[in-house]
Amino acid sequence: MSQFLELAKKRRSIQPVMFDDVQISNEDILKILEAAHWAPSHKKIFPWRFIVFGGDARENLAEFVKSNYQKLASPEKFSEMKQKKFGKKIMQSSHVIALISKESGELPAWEDLAATSSAIQNLWLAATDMGYGGYWSSPSFVCKEKEFFDCAENESCLGLFYLGKPKDGLQIPATRPDLSEFVSFR
Ligand SMILES: Cc1cc2nc3c(=O)[nH]c(=O)nc-3n(C[C@H](O)[C@H](O)[C@H](O)COP(=O)(O)O)c2cc1C
Repeated sequence: MSQFLELAKKRRSIQPVMFDDVQISNEDILKILEAAHWAPSHKKIFPWRFIVFGGDARENLAEFVKSNYQKLASPEKFSEMKQKKFGKKIMQSSHVIALISKESGELPAWEDLAATSSAIQNLWLAATDMGYGGYWSSPSFVCKEKEFFDCAENESCLGLFYLGKPKDGLQIPATRPDLSEFVSFR
């Protein structure tokens, strides 16, 4: 099996509760984002933007996420436990990256989203390759937010990437449906 296929299979969604208390260096964060930045992009629009929250900035993000959840969750759905968990996940992460995508207006909107999603997958794979991990979380009460992330009119937040160092020996079993159900040759 090629090394790349091994890496693609190794990438997992890893919850912050499974992270060690390790702070990733800015140098490594930039390497991960460099991999993201080499994603393909029709017309070379590069519609992505990343906002990295580390150290104390995580506390501001946690406060924002908790208050936005309270503001936007319907009263029947609101749960104090869930609200606390949102804050905890941020503080358990080494860094949290807000994933911003621009609608260029030069292409069908899906192409910009596809390019940014490719960048996010590169980010995820690079992190995995470097011994880090995390997951892409896309709660609507974060994705609707523009002001906190200084989004321009044509930008939107596709969610948060929780990044950290998985605990040693962490194994998350995963399966996929049989590939033959998803492929046809003509
Ligand atoms: C666009 C996108 C949004 C996602 N949003 C969430 C989310 O809000 N919460 C969550 O727990 N996982 C989220 N995930 C992660 C998926 O649940 C996860 O990739 C899937 O369960 C497969 O597991 P794996 O990543 O370990 O292969 C998201 C994944 C993608 C691609």
